Formats: sequence, C-alpha cells, structure tokens
Amino acid sequence: MTDADRGDIGARKRSHLQLSLNEDVGFRGRSSGFDRLSLVHDAMPELHPEEIDLSAEFLGFELELPLLISSMTGGTDEATELNTRLARAAAQAGCAMAVGSQRAGLESEDVEQSYRIRDVAPDVPLFANLGAVQLNYGYGVEQCLRAVEMIEADALFLHLNSLQESLQPGGDVDFRDLREKIAALCHDLPFPVLLKTTGNGISARTARKLVGLPIAGLEASGAGGTSWARIESMRGPGDEHRTRFADWGESTADSVRAVRSVLPDLPLVASGGVAHGDEVAKALALGADLAGIARPLLREAHRGEGALEESFRRLAEELRISCFYCGRGWVGDLVTEDLCESGNSDPFVE
Ligand SMILES: Cc1cc2nc3c(=O)[nH]c(=O)nc-3n(C[C@H](O)[C@H](O)[C@H](O)COP(=O)(O)O)c2cc1C
Repeated sequence: MTDADRGDIGARKRSHLQLSLNEDVGFRGRSSGFDRLSLVHDAMPELHPEEIDLSAEFLGFELELPLLISSMTGGTDEATELNTRLARAAAQAGCAMAVGSQRAGLESEDVEQSYRIRDVAPDVPLFANLGAVQLNYGYGVEQCLRAVEMIEADALFLHLNSLQESLQPGGDVDFRDLREKIAALCHDLPFPVLLKTTGNGISARTARKLVGLPIAGLEASGAGGTSWARIESMRGPGDEHRTRFADWGESTADSVRAVRSVLPDLPLVASGGVAHGDEVAKALALGADLAGIARPLLREAHRGEGALEESFRRLAEELRISCFYCGRGWVGDLVTEDLCESGNSDPFVE
C-alpha cells in the first residue's frame, strides 16, 4: 500500500466519522421494521420489575445486557478517544463491543493504538473487524490473526459491504468466491469468525447461502438505521445515482426473520436502527440473541461519558419495562408470541 492509499483510508475514516456525528445519514424512506411491530401486553405479569433478568449468553460469554456496541471506528486520532469511551461504557454496562475495520491498523502501525481498548475493558467480549472482500485483495489468515492480536479480541467479524464498496470511487468490488474463502478461514483460525452486514440487511436467499458455512455467528445489520449509501453520497460531488441507493436493503426486522427461518440456531445479533430498549426487546422476540447499536451510541460517546452512561441506563430501563409489560422474567424468554403487527392485536405470524 502506498502513502497515498494510507492517507486515503485515514481521510475516508475521518469523513465517515464526521458525517455520522453531524449529519442526518439515516434511512429516510424505510424503517428498521420495529415500528410495524408491537409488544403484546400481559396485564397480569406476576413479576416484580426489579427481579427481571436482563442477562444474556453469546458464544459462551455471559453478558449483563443483551447488547453489542457494533463495529464502528478506529484508525484516526478522534477514534482513539471514542473507542475508549465506548469500551469503558461496555465494561460498566456488561455488554459486548466490536471495533471498526482494522485495515488502517494493519497497514500502518501508527494508528494501531486507536483500536486498542483492552486495558479499559479487560473482561468485555471484544470483536475485531475486517472487510470480507479483502480476502480477494491479498488478505488471509495472517491479517486475521494480526487483527485479533492487535486488540486482544475474542473473535473476528468479517463485514459484507458490497453496496458501500460499489458506491465508493475505487471501491473493492470483487466479491467472487468469498464463501469458499470464508469457510477455509473458519477452519484455519483459532478463534470464532462471524459475518456481519453493514446496514443493508440479509434476505432469505442470502441466509440460504450461509447454510453449512462454519461461521460462529452472524450480525444481521439491516436497513432502517445508518445508511452507508447516504454517507457515501454526502462525501462530495459524485454521481447522482448514489442517493438512489440510500434506502436500499432488507429492514432489520425482516432480516432477523429471514435468518431465523433458515438458520434457527445460529448465534445472531440484530442491528440497524436499534436505539431504544423496546426495540431491543422486539429484536430478541424475533429470535436474535443480542441487539447491536452503532451510530446512536457513537453520538452519545461524542457528547461525553456521562451521556453514554445515561444511554445505557435508559436502554436497560426500557428493556426492563418491555419485559415487565410482556410478563417475561428474563429477556431470553421473549418469543414471537410477544409480538403483533402494530394496530392489529392478532399474534404475529411468522
Ligand atoms: C461511523 C461508523 C463506522 C462504521 N464502520 C464499520 C466498520 O468499519 N465495519 C463494520 O463492519 N461496520 C461498520 N459500521 C456499521 C455498523 O456496525 C452497523 O452495522 C450500522 O451502522 C447499522 O447500525 P446503526 O443503525 O445502529 O448505526 C459503521 C457504522 C458507523 C456509524
């Protein structure tokens, strides 16, 4: 990689961060799908809210909250402070955390530090991150090992971001034969490898392609939250067509349903447009094991550690109330019977 390429990654990361923090980079024409679902009220919950158990298990890790701070950042000075704040909050809340793509860190030792958060979050299940497409651009076992070692991670997310790459000038768009390469990596690496999308969801057809792939889990990051096509379209003058794809993809709720219909037992995170505890409850009721939150927490981290702490307190409280409302004593007891289509009291039918 040349100095110019390195500079490009840094500049790109900075503009992604600035746009995510300061602009409306969300989906506009479609939602995460959680607004179309309501939780079903149990008028006789036979519970005390303080006894409700919000804990979860994911890949053998015990969490106090069924939450993942989804992959976001690293590779710039500003990212160092944001990752540190997020990691401290994850440790305090007892949830899991992922860092953003570590390609910049692999290409330049100078920015490795921006991803390293183990010292502030010694017990947090921590996920490394690389683009799956990089397997077609020279990356393999060595880079995956280095990414995990760099941050003392417990597992690795490989992200699938074909839409974003195709809208980036000079993006890496060769997505051929990745299934086979991912399968080989899963066998060769000594830690769990998971796949994730980046806000455009997973269809039933994609889920079927994952059947038999030895991944340890999946983050179905659906449409309805952060729109990467919108971010790319805002990064300067370019082809008008980029905005046409800003509302593209399967909603988060539809993605979870699609995955669960094909892969009922795969450890699953639902992200994309999750910002409140009742949305976490709906994601779990649809069959996700955890909910993932990215940009809403990034914005709070930017405001300060107090704001971030308050967000986690609010999320936990909303989740607790949702469970109380549904008469469920443990978040893991939420099931599709606890959902109905909004405005319709018939039970939700898969
Ligand atoms: C600033 C920012 C940077 C991101 N960088 C990455 C990344 O490097 N790798 C990745 O897998 N996902 C990345 N994502 C995508 C998120 O993990 C998530 O899938 C997506 O933003 C949807 O969640 P949200 O609606 O809660 O933001 C990033 C998101 C944001 C906001």
